[in-house]
Parts: sequence; structure tokens; C-alpha cells
Amino acid sequence: MAIKGVIFDLDGVITDTAEFHYRAWQDLGEKIGITFDRAFNENLKGISRMDSLNLILEHGNKADDYSDAEKEALATDKNDDYKTLIEEITPTDILPGIQTFLDACIAKGMKLALASASKNGPAILDRLELTDYFEVTVDPASLKNGKPDPEIFLKAAKLLHLEPFECIGVEDAEAGIQSINAAGMFSVGVGSPESMKEADIFVENTQELDLEKIINKYKKMR
Ligand code: BG6
Ligand code: MG
Repeated sequence: MAIKGVIFDLDGVITDTAEFHYRAWQDLGEKIGITFDRAFNENLKGISRMDSLNLILEHGNKADDYSDAEKEALATDKNDDYKTLIEEITPTDILPGIQTFLDACIAKGMKLALASASKNGPAILDRLELTDYFEVTVDPASLKNGKPDPEIFLKAAKLLHLEPFECIGVEDAEAGIQSINAAGMFSVGVGSPESMKEADIFVENTQELDLEKIINKYKKMR
């Protein structure tokens, strides 16, 4: 069985926007009197904008302090801040090893898809000049359920006209790995051993992504 499709998360895998999300949420937290650290921030990775805000409000015991309209305004405030941060992105911000990995996948005839929860995903791919690598991009606004639900990865496989077992997913978030696994796909993690426990294979940073190793492990498991 050969891998025919590779479905990528964006933030924290292709470029280090996970750090920008963290900074923008921290700035919002300061404005509303909620502090949180990097360990808490792990829970926000892969999670939609509004779900992230709800987790932050719960963390600060302020879950009932805001109306839906006020929460929309807070989420917009964070996103405006985030959009300013991503204006600076250029192709030099592609994480180490990613361009080589994408080229290796294409050279093997694999089709690429983007499965990011971010509504800013297409703009970021454009800034990185990587849009043409991806045959499809799942629109997160079209989904009923966010990660860890498998919907986004299943939709990506469908758009690629592939079966889930013919695809692999690449993620830096625990919720993302759970989403890939639940979709019945082989999961490739980028992150610490603690956060990547459920991945079928993982590397600690993108530079270590090795398509041959992934193919070998995938074959052993199928
Ligand atoms: C995910 C990030 O890729 O996208 C999350 O890991 C983020 O941190 C989510 O909340 C939604 O992104 P955006 O850009 O639509 O607010
Ligand atoms: Mg991510």
C-alpha cells in the first residue's frame, strides 16, 4: 500500500504562526486580566478561534462574564492583532526542512492538501509562496466539528479523491493527531515526545521530517 496523499496542518508545521497565535492571545488575555503560560497554550493549538477564546475565559474563571456579541468582539480583537503579526511573513518563514519535504512528496507523486483550522490559512500560504503545492485546501468555515473531530482530515481526503488509509496527516497539535487517528489515517507528529504520544511517528522539529522513514513505518503498519 502506497501513500497517495499528504494532508498538512499549517500553524506550527509549515510556518511558526503557532507563536503568533500565542502572542496575540496573550495580548488579549492581558486586556481582560487573564494570564496563561506555554503549557496552557498547548491546549489552544489546532482549536478554532472561538473555542480557544472559550478555553481562555474558562481558565480565567470568566466564562460567564461576556455575552456572545462581546465574545465575537474579543475574538475579532485577537484576530486583528494576529493579522498584523502575519503581515511580516515571507518565504523565509517556512520552517526548516518543510520545502524539501514538500518537494519529496511531490517527487513521489503524492497529492497535497491543507487541513488547517485557521481562516487565515490561504493568506499565509500565499505569503509563503506555497499555494501552488496544494491541490486542495479545506475551508474551516465549511466544517461542523473542529479538531480533534476527524471531519477536517476526512474532508481533505475526499477533496483529493482518496481513501483515508491512502493518506497521512502531519500535525503539531495533540488535538490534530487525535483528528488524524480518528480519520483512520497514519499520523505524523511534530513536537515533544509528551505531546506526540499518540502519533504513529513523530519528530521533534520539522528539519527531521524524513519521507523515507515515514513510508517505511506506514508500510509496516498497513
Ligand atoms: C489553528 C491554530 O491552526 O487555527 C489555532 O493552531 C487557531 O491556534 C486556529 O486558533 C484558528 O485560526 P484563525 O487564524 O482562524 O483564528
Ligand atoms: Mg498546528
